[in-house]
Amino acid sequence: MPNLRIPTMASYQHPDSSGHFGRYGGSFASETLTFALKELREAYARYQHDPAFIAEFNYEMAHFVGRPSPVYHAARTSQEMGGAQIYLKREDLNHTGAHKINNVIGQAMLAKRMGKPRIIAETGAGQHGVATATICARYGLECIVYMGAEDVKRQSPNVYRMKLLGATVVPVESGSKTLKDALNEAMRDWVANVDNTFYIIGTVAGPHPYPMMVRDFQSVIGTECLTQMPLVLAEQNLPAQQPDVVMACVGGGSNAMGIFHPYIPFDNVRLIGVEAAGEGLDTHKHSASLQRGSAGVLHGNRTFILQDDNGQIMETHSISAGLDYPGVGPEHAWLQEIGRAEYVGITDKEALAAFHYLCRTEGIIPALESSHAFAYAMKLAKEMRPDQSILVNLSGRGDKDIGTVADLSGEDFYDRPSMRGLAVKGAESKP
Ligand SMILES: Cc1ncc(COP(=O)(O)O)c(C=O)c1O
Repeated sequence: MPNLRIPTMASYQHPDSSGHFGRYGGSFASETLTFALKELREAYARYQHDPAFIAEFNYEMAHFVGRPSPVYHAARTSQEMGGAQIYLKREDLNHTGAHKINNVIGQAMLAKRMGKPRIIAETGAGQHGVATATICARYGLECIVYMGAEDVKRQSPNVYRMKLLGATVVPVESGSKTLKDALNEAMRDWVANVDNTFYIIGTVAGPHPYPMMVRDFQSVIGTECLTQMPLVLAEQNLPAQQPDVVMACVGGGSNAMGIFHPYIPFDNVRLIGVEAAGEGLDTHKHSASLQRGSAGVLHGNRTFILQDDNGQIMETHSISAGLDYPGVGPEHAWLQEIGRAEYVGITDKEALAAFHYLCRTEGIIPALESSHAFAYAMKLAKEMRPDQSILVNLSGRGDKDIGTVADLSGEDFYDRPSMRGLAVKGAESKP
């Protein structure tokens, strides 16, 4: 967090003091949480400019997370697409395997300073849960993670990682048993245990100050890119200092806000968020809140949500648990409204194809969430010139997804004859 409010942001000062991004954002919370949110706003306002807090955050980023994460030129992909150069911001290389850890460290540092020994979190893909369990282990805090029962099944490696790290994982059986239900349950826990509990929200959603605070912690991603891009573009003799397009997948929207935010003042840089189009934007099986939703209140803020005519939240679908959410951070709703960012969709099929392509072409196994962004980058690159560039936030690694991918391909990675053969051979050769 070298500079939470970077000077170039003078023309973009959002949210306002009540947490609004235009008509979005704000704080819709029960009376019980009013004091806790006020306490949190005050703590964040105090520590975000505190040199000791900033120094500790920077230390953690460098020595525990392994930042800065590299920017990598996907040279083979770029050549095969025959258009723009594609660059990947490698958040998958962070400790715990995704961008989620950046925000978790910031919030856990606040929890310590506020004297809250009990941490709760919601998780979809399990990456935010793993990051939270990791930091709680390191700081000696109790950790309870709420996770939809459906996501517990499809992201089982991450469930076991959380348990190994000492967290209690609570499967949520209500609703569609996915991320929104986990968030509901975590909110209920917070209301009941507000005195000793800090709720670490994993994305740029929730009541004020969460959307702003999570964005600020995640802005380390884009801030690093501002200094990395001129160097990597010069290596390819490209004329520009910054990319023509910055792109990221959007679930709740934290990895996208993290890379977008420092680029907002750069008018000639297009910002593109990629939502999960699931089985198609014209079906009911997608999670594209910005493209198919309308304004409403969900989880403490006003934003774009997928709702029916009676204002009931609709069931969502995505191949990737981390994008399977019927809302989106309010700042994205605002950026879409003012025309500063564009939002597009990628289907399950396209994301899966991009997953396999990245594995085979660049030697990187990406998260299914990140595969959505990569898939759209490959499409768009073909329409651009080779002297132009696209920067994609590769938000996480795909180890957690290999079971889902094997299932979809009709394979069983634990029980292939070839694997059995290898295992027996290895055992026989032992002395
Ligand atoms: C690797 C990865 N990318 C993206 C997301 C989506 O979250 P967000 O939109 O907040 O970045 C998740 C959520 O779990 C994730 O694990």
